[in-house]
Amino acid sequence: MSQPHLTVITHPLVQHKLTIMRQKDVSTAGFRRLLREISLLLAYEVTRELELTTMRIETPLCAMDAPTLEGKKLALISILRAGNGLLDGILEMIPSARVGFVGLYRDPETLQPVEYYCKVPSLLDQRMTIVVDPMLATGNSSVAAIDMLKARGARNLRFLCLLAAPEGVDRMRQAHPDVPIFTAALDDRLDDHGYIVPGLGDAGDRMFGTK
Ligand code: URA
Repeated sequence: MSQPHLTVITHPLVQHKLTIMRQKDVSTAGFRRLLREISLLLAYEVTRELELTTMRIETPLCAMDAPTLEGKKLALISILRAGNGLLDGILEMIPSARVGFVGLYRDPETLQPVEYYCKVPSLLDQRMTIVVDPMLATGNSSVAAIDMLKARGARNLRFLCLLAAPEGVDRMRQAHPDVPIFTAALDDRLDDHGYIVPGLGDAGDRMFGTK
């Protein structure tokens, strides 16, 4: 079944929690708690297409063929550092997932993302691979991260974020049209500093209490 390139998860609980998170006076602890809660709900949607098979089990009453996930455990890839905020909640929902990390910094001269860290699970070619980063802004780091994962074999990819800007969605669509994006909201635009507007500010600073 073909997937839409962009899915906005409009579930009322997601939208309600996101509205609280956007507000500038929410505490670090509150922001972190909401991000964990919302990521449980997002995980539910982004894994909707996971394949099922059946296994023979015994209930106290009889034997039955019961549904169970097919294939290799899925891979969750966090783009450092803000991706870790989404990762924690998703791991609560899918505790057996394999986990990888991608670290990128922006070259001050070329402004292009440069890899400084990449540690990912084996056999990516056989796993659904979900890349997580709360903010899809310019799309530069997500495109670079997905380039790195494809070079390491990943084929069945999803990108999960909390907020997306139209600029980032377009960039992803051009570079990786095969990677569906899941987000809680598609905001209006980027400002001159690359922040999503209306957005929620710097997701990493808000979840880790840095500035
Ligand atoms: N990264 C963030 O943390 N916030 C934005 O608005 C854009 C990128």
